[in-house]
Amino acid sequence: MPDTAANTAPDTAPGSAPDSARPRPATARRGAGLSGEAVVPGDKSVSHRALILGALAVGETRVTGLLDGEDVLATAEAMRAFGAEVTREADGTWSIHGVGVGGLGEPEDVIDCGNSGTGVRLIMGAMATTPISATFTGDASLRRRPMGRILDPLRMFGAKHAGRQGGLLPLTLTGAADPVPVEYTLPMASAQVKSAVLLAGLNAPGETVVIEPVATRDHTERILRGFGAHVTVEDLPEGRAIRLAGLPELAPCQIAVPRDPSSAAFPAAAALIAEGSEITVPTVSLNPTRAGFYETVAEMGADIERLNAREEGGEPVADLRVRHTRLKGVEVPPERAASMIDEYPILAVLAAFAEGDTVMRGIGELRVKESDRIAAVAAGLRANGVEVTEEADGLIVHGRGADVPGGGTVATHLDHRIAMSFLCLGLGTAAPVTIDDARPIETSFPDFIQLMSALGATISMEDR
Ligand code: S3P
Repeated sequence: MPDTAANTAPDTAPGSAPDSARPRPATARRGAGLSGEAVVPGDKSVSHRALILGALAVGETRVTGLLDGEDVLATAEAMRAFGAEVTREADGTWSIHGVGVGGLGEPEDVIDCGNSGTGVRLIMGAMATTPISATFTGDASLRRRPMGRILDPLRMFGAKHAGRQGGLLPLTLTGAADPVPVEYTLPMASAQVKSAVLLAGLNAPGETVVIEPVATRDHTERILRGFGAHVTVEDLPEGRAIRLAGLPELAPCQIAVPRDPSSAAFPAAAALIAEGSEITVPTVSLNPTRAGFYETVAEMGADIERLNAREEGGEPVADLRVRHTRLKGVEVPPERAASMIDEYPILAVLAAFAEGDTVMRGIGELRVKESDRIAAVAAGLRANGVEVTEEADGLIVHGRGADVPGGGTVATHLDHRIAMSFLCLGLGTAAPVTIDDARPIETSFPDFIQLMSALGATISMEDR
């Protein structure tokens, strides 16, 4: 099955209420420097995993700091549909009473994962070795994204699926009745595929092995261990081999979700862009498999200090102090791509304000994210007077230093990171920058505009 995205479906709105069905343009303009503290939401990757593993443990898992964004709420709803008891308490703590490995029940209705590739792919992995059927769908963006990349290994466990051509949602997955363990070498650097295979391996007897030629985010390995599964990691010449012993009894646990380094990148970048800025971003996860953006901006000369480095919730964290800096263009090593895969749009925006070219290669995976991010970023920068060179799996931004014209309107294609990146662009351009739709920001960073405004950013939403 080809693992490609189809780009034919029109962008339609998430939700069905008349208000949420209408795009909400927003405009950012240059103003005074930013100051204060930017408390960003919990990590999206860890939040999905906490809910899914909590649902597979026996007993009560308690989670603090969970991201209350649409993507994660869709995963919470899905876990309820599979039989777990999932509740959010008044103080924001989440409680999950799980059903145990192999205990997922058949959902009565279609599972709608909204905008979330992580949600749908991990949940499909988690159910692929339990003999139940479930039908999955999502919004117009998710229905364009390739699912063949997980269906291929899930079939090796004995799962079956029926759905649209090309492995696109909606599709129905039927879990294996007699699953066999699998050894799978990832054909692309994808933590979602790795995680789907490991989660499927939980309910298969024997040892499931994933070999990843390039290291990707390791939250699944960490959290599986936290729930008591036996997971080992070995560096082999062909890559990292992750071995999971099947049929563990997962013990419930307490999880403190660290703050999301991908979300932190937006206020940090805004402070680098807006003259006179100095902000702090507390308790940001700097897990090495996620920290590539911070390495890259340091090479561009960014004034970012890591204060109070410590460990929280099993992840290395630090408080970031960020000051406005004139950046220089750099060549980003392609082997760093996996550790900053979600940060290329905001890096490209920073690169527009740098002196010289910033070269980003080995980033073909960006074409199958919430949007084709290479194309969306290239179009957005050009619309604002920045020259770019687009390649099949790369992007070169020809930086303009402090003189970025702006004045354009950017198509966000239901992509939260495109929306936030271009609002950050507008905080430093000569003329304001408008995005066609701010609603997708709800998926990962619901308070983004309020938080940025509290730091002093000038962002206005069109009234409904
Ligand atoms: C994620 C993995 C990445 C990333 C996504 C979250 C995860 O996707 O882009 O936002 O939580 O595993 P891929 O694994 O497809 O690269």
